Amino acid sequence: MDMEFYRGKRVFITGHTGVKGAWLCRILVNAGAIVTGYSLPAPTEPNLFALAGLEGKMSSVVGDVRDFKSLKAAFDEAQPEIVLHLAAQPIVRDSYKDPRYTYETNVMGTVNLLECHFTGAREVSGEYHH
Ligand SMILES: NC(=O)c1ccc[n+]([C@@H]2O[C@H](COP(=O)([O-])OP(=O)(O)OC[C@H]3O[C@@H](n4cnc5c(N)ncnc54)[C@H](O)[C@@H]3O)[C@@H](O)[C@H]2O)c1
Repeated sequence: MDMEFYRGKRVFITGHTGVKGAWLCRILVNAGAIVTGYSLPAPTEPNLFALAGLEGKMSSVVGDVRDFKSLKAAFDEAQPEIVLHLAAQPIVRDSYKDPRYTYETNVMGTVNLLECHFTGAREVSGEYHH
């Protein structure tokens, strides 16, 4: 993988306080990307996001992907060239217990993020990975 590609690129990551997101941020920050994360707060103290030394090296926004207004504000501020969508309720067993929350986060959260792109303040050419 050519990490030079990411140098100076504006990358917007949802779920940056999670397991995969925090690792991904660490890799992108190392590669010289300008990273903005958008997620709920890290669930534990200590947590991987803090332990990975990311605070101060990227912009970290605490917010909910179900909240379109908040997501859109962070997205527009970041002006991303690349979008990586990892925010999710990822536990299958929990989805049985709380299907509404799971649907709202995993499905409507994705719709909200896509809408941020399609109603963007300016035309951007982004890539979507979920
Ligand atoms: N861990 C794995 O082995 C694995 C395997 C395949 C796919 N995935 C997928 O990768 C993604 C990330 O998984 P993970 O293991 O890092 O999960 P995780 O639970 O560690 O992290 C989830 C992240 O999503 C954020 N989040 C959850 N609900 C949110 C909401 N309503 N609004 C904003 N942010 C919210 C959390 O704050 C956290 O940052 C998920 O889509 C998951 O299904 C994970």
